[in-house]
This record gives sequence, structure tokens and C-alpha cells, in this order.
Amino acid sequence: MEIRVGPPVVDADHFERPELTAQLQAALTRGSVAFLGPRRTGKTSQLLALAAAPGKFLPVYCDVEHCFTPEQWLLAVLEASSARLEQGGAAAKQLRRLWDAFAVRVRKFTILGASAELAPAPTPDFRALGEEFARLLRESEVPLAFLLDEFPWFVQNLAPEPARQFLSWFRQLRIEAVRRPVRFVLTGSIGLAGVVRRLGLGSTVNDLEQIRITPLSSAEAESFLERLTRDNGIALSAEGRREVIALLGSTWPYFLQLFVAALQQHPRDAVTGEKAHLARLYEEEITSSRNEFCRNMRERLRAIFTPAELLLAQAVLRRLEAPAGLTAEEVERVHAELVPDPLHRAQVEGDRHTVLETLEHDGYVVRDQTAERRYRFASHILRDYWRRHP
Ligand SMILES: Nc1ncnc2c1ncn2[C@@H]1O[C@H](COP(=O)(O)OP(=O)(O)OP(=O)(O)O)[C@@H](O)[C@H]1O
Ligand SMILES: [Mg+2]
Repeated sequence: MEIRVGPPVVDADHFERPELTAQLQAALTRGSVAFLGPRRTGKTSQLLALAAAPGKFLPVYCDVEHCFTPEQWLLAVLEASSARLEQGGAAAKQLRRLWDAFAVRVRKFTILGASAELAPAPTPDFRALGEEFARLLRESEVPLAFLLDEFPWFVQNLAPEPARQFLSWFRQLRIEAVRRPVRFVLTGSIGLAGVVRRLGLGSTVNDLEQIRITPLSSAEAESFLERLTRDNGIALSAEGRREVIALLGSTWPYFLQLFVAALQQHPRDAVTGEKAHLARLYEEEITSSRNEFCRNMRERLRAIFTPAELLLAQAVLRRLEAPAGLTAEEVERVHAELVPDPLHRAQVEGDRHTVLETLEHDGYVVRDQTAERRYRFASHILRDYWRRHP
């Protein structure tokens, strides 16, 4: 098992999560799934693991983050399917020929090379292409599981009218697909519910079974640390492993990888004790401005929030370092400092809900088990980074 800090991990580098895989497989027998979770929590790696063990389905993995129109989405899905179908049996190969021919037609309608900066040209009516795809899918007997990564980004990329048209069409397609062996797993690190709600289209995703990726259990985290350090010749005692987990205050594999990478770069000298060494690494490597993850998390706030939401999010995060966290009322007070006029505040109450829901979904905050369900930082890493870079 190699140390991997950033890209999706596969095969021997992937610390297997058999329960999560089984949970996704079981959900797929029932219908389509929204598999969501914060950034860098292992969603893509898990999708790839599912693609390697998809049960009766032929898996098609497709990253749709850079699709800006429904036509581009359709083309991406068709292109990703092509190679997979070729690996299937005769029916799959037959379907591939039909889909490849269809893809040629879809390609004519796509605006290739569009990027976030370039507003996509007005899109032609998607309806005819969508109906054609639904028909091809209906006539096929091939059991397919489409694993669509970064789906909420794609929805966010769409202009309002194409989004409305696409989302209702796609819901209908999934509902029809339940009766045949066709499934969709929609993955992403921004909240799908929030994105569609902002478009006023909340009901277009209510058919999906929600599965959230969870951190490793403590036992899994310890065993992951043990394997990762052992395979890479890094000294870390059992006590040291527990100390790493305590310092991080979180057991996401990515954070554990970060810590082991820091240990590899800065081995302990003969005089420093293990605990002191780990504490120093945490301070100097993990929560310093060198940590790209924390920097990105911070910059990301600008991309996902409106200016008013951003101000509120920043104010909440600055206050959140208090050991007791914040109650919902205390968050409201923070909002009141920014928007003192009660009438105006009532009008923008939605901002507060969006901010809290997004921060929670993004893995910034969690609600604790107290009766007040206080908001707290989801990891010590973010808390300490935010404390040091307010
Ligand atoms: N099961 C795992 N075994 C080992 N490392 C993992 C595992 N899951 C996640 N990681 C670590 O997390 C990093 C990110 O994984 P991955 O890209 O799958 O996450 P993601 O949730 O898709 O991220 P993003 O939100 O950026 O798309 C990997 O580079 C690796 O360091
Ligand atoms: Mg990913």
C-alpha cells in the first residue's frame, strides 16, 4: 500500500471498506442512489471500488464535472459507456454499436471545449435527444450501473431552463429504470439537495436513496495506519497511531494519509519523544498554511456561496472555534450582527439555512449529540487551521 495524498486510490492502495461497498450494492438492487459526502473523503475511490465489484451490473464510471449542457452530459455518458460495453457480452456489444451511432448525432449538439469561464452557447432543445436515449435504454436488456461522479457540479453548471428540463427528464428516466436493471449512482461533494432547491427543483431528486460516506471506525483507522506505515517502512507505535487519530480528531483516510506523508518526510530524530514529534508535525505540517487541503477548503467557500452567505459562513467559522461550539440560536445571533434589521434578516433567513447545511455537507461542521445539537468543527484540522488563519 503506497502513500497517496490527493488522487483517487485504487487496487492495493485502496483501504477496502467492505461494509460501505455492501451497503451501496444493496441499495442498487432497490434503485438509484445519491452517494454524497464532503470533499476528499474517498467518494471517487469508493465508486471505483464499486465499479470493480458491481454485482450483476455492468458499471460505467463517468466524471461529469466539466459538462455544461445536458447534451455534453449525454455525450460523456455515452462515451464512457462505449469502452465498458465492449467488455460485456453479445448484448452489450450490440448496444454499443447503437449507442456509438447515437453519440455521433449527440456530438453535433454539444459545445465542446466549453469551460466554466466561457458561458455555454444557448443549448438546443434537449428533449428529442433525451427521449432517444430513454428509448435506447428501454430497449436494452443490458444491466447497467452508471456511476456519475461530481453530479451536483454538473447541475450547478447548467443554466436554469436546461437544468429544469434535464432534471425532470432524468428523474423520469431513473424511475423507469427501476423496473429494468439500470441504475444511477450520483456522487459529489456539494449538496445535491441544496443545488436543486436553489433552482426551485427540489422534488426532482426525491426518488434517490441517500447514502452518505462515513469516516473510518477507530479500529479501521488504526489498522489503516498500521498498514500504511508498515508498507512504507515508517516507524509508528500502536500508541502513536492512537495519538495521530486523537490529534486529527477525525478518521477520514485522507487525513491519515496526510499525517503518514508528513511522518515520511520528517522522520523522528533520536532525542525527540514520539508524542512530542507527532504534536510538532501536526502543528507545523498539518495545520499550517502549507496544507493545501485547508487552503482549498477556504477558497472553495468563495465559489459556493453568494457574497452575503460567504460573510455569514466566515463569521460562523470564526466563532466556531469556541470549545463548546455554537447552538442554532447563537448562529442566529452571529447573523443578527451582520444583518441587524429583524425584517431584513427574516427575508434572508434562507441564507442561514443554506450556509449551515452547506458547511455541514462540506465536512466543515457537524452537529453534536447534545440536546442543543451544537455545531462544531468536523475535524481538529479545520478548527486549528481556521484558528490560525481567521
Ligand atoms: N479507502 C481509501 N484508502 C486509502 N486512501 C483513501 C481511501 N479513501 C480516500 N483516501 C484518501 O483520500 C484521498 C481522496 O480520495 P478520493 O479522491 O476518492 O476522494 P473524493 O471524496 O472523491 O474527493 P473529491 O471530493 O476531491 O472528489 C486519496 O488520495 C487518499 O489519500
Ligand atoms: Mg472525487
